[in-house]
Amino acid sequence: MSQSRIENVTLLGAGVLGGQIAWQSAFKGKSVVVYDLYEKGLQQCRKDQQGYADIYLQSLGASEEMIAATRARLTFTDDLGKAAGNADLVIEAVPEIPEAKISVYSELAKHLPGHTLIATNSSTLLPSQFADATGRPEKFCALHFANHIWHQNVAEVMAHPGTAESTLVAVTQFAIEIGMIPIPLQKEQNGYVLNSLLVPLLNATLSLLSNGVSTPETIDRTYMVSNRGCAVGPCGIMDIIGMTTAYNVSSYWAGETGDEQLLQNARYIKESFLDKGKLGAQSGEGFYTYPNPAFAAPDFLEVPDISRAAELASLAVPH
Ligand SMILES: NC(=O)c1ccc[n+]([C@@H]2O[C@H](COP(=O)([O-])OP(=O)(O)OC[C@H]3O[C@@H](n4cnc5c(N)ncnc54)[C@H](O)[C@@H]3O)[C@@H](O)[C@H]2O)c1
Repeated sequence: MSQSRIENVTLLGAGVLGGQIAWQSAFKGKSVVVYDLYEKGLQQCRKDQQGYADIYLQSLGASEEMIAATRARLTFTDDLGKAAGNADLVIEAVPEIPEAKISVYSELAKHLPGHTLIATNSSTLLPSQFADATGRPEKFCALHFANHIWHQNVAEVMAHPGTAESTLVAVTQFAIEIGMIPIPLQKEQNGYVLNSLLVPLLNATLSLLSNGVSTPETIDRTYMVSNRGCAVGPCGIMDIIGMTTAYNVSSYWAGETGDEQLLQNARYIKESFLDKGKLGAQSGEGFYTYPNPAFAAPDFLEVPDISRAAELASLAVPH
C-alpha cells in the first residue's frame, strides 16, 4: 500500500503552527478541521489563512481555483467532539506546556474513532511523555513540522517505544502526501534533529541579549554575514516562531534544569515582549516590526557609511 488512507485530518490548536499545517494539508487535498479551545484562536487562524493564500498565490504558483478548493476543505470549530469524530489523523499543536497537552489528549480520547492516529507537533517534548494520556499509545508518535511549512518542508517522524510500525508508515506516507521531506529519528530526542540544532543557537542569542552584551540587530547581522545567503538571523527566527512558544520552551527547560541563565532568558522574553503584547511577526511586532523588518532592508548586510562610525562606536561603550 503506497497511500496513507488519511483523508480527514484534525488540528488541535489554531496557532502559528496549527494554522500552517492545516492550510498545507488542505492545499494538498486533505479535509481538515481546525479545533481551538478559544474563539480568539480560531479568529486569528482564519485571518492567518488569508496570509497563507497570498504566499501560495504569489510564491508557490497556486491558482485562484486551488486556493478556493483549499478554503473549501477547511473548517473551524471550538467543539472537540465535532472536530475529532471523523478524523483519520489528529495532529496536536497546542502550547508547549505538558499539562495543556495531557489535558487535551485525555479529553480527545472520549471522542475518537478506533482507527484514528495521533501525532504531536511538540518542538521539544517527547511522545513517551504523552503516550498514556492518548489512550492509544500504539497509534501515537511525533510528527514535527517547521515554521513556514511551505518552504521549510521537513516533517520529523519520531516514535516512542510503544508506537506501532504501521503508525509510522501511515504518518510518513501522510507527510509525503502533503509535500514534506520526512526526517526519521531512530530514538527519542528532545528537539529532534531540527531543534537540537536550533534551540542552543536561540539560547545563546537570548543570553547575549539578557546579559546586555549586544543588540538584536547586531546579533542577527553577525549571523547573516557569517552565513551569507540566509535570509534571517536568530532574533528574526524567534519573531517567526512567536514569542509565546519561545517563552514556553525557555521557561519549561529553565524549570527542568534549574539553569539560572535559562531562567533569566525566559524572564527577558516575558518582560520585553509578552508583557507588552509583542508576540512576534504574526502580531506585527517582536524584535522587529512587520511587514518590513529592518533585517530585510537592502543595506542591512552592507559595510556602513563612515558617517555612522560614532553611532556604532557608542554601542561598544561598556555599561
Ligand atoms: N511556532 C513554531 O515555530 C513551532 C514550530 C514547530 C512546532 N511548534 C510546536 O507546535 C505547538 C504549538 O505551537 P504554536 O507556536 O503554534 O503555538 P501558539 O501559541 O501560536 O498556538 C497555540 C494555540 O493553541 C490554543 N490552545 C491553547 N490551549 C488549548 C487547548 N487546551 N486545546 C486546544 N487549543 C488550545 C491557543 O488558543 C492557540 O491558538 C507547540 O508544541 C510548539 O512547540 C511550534
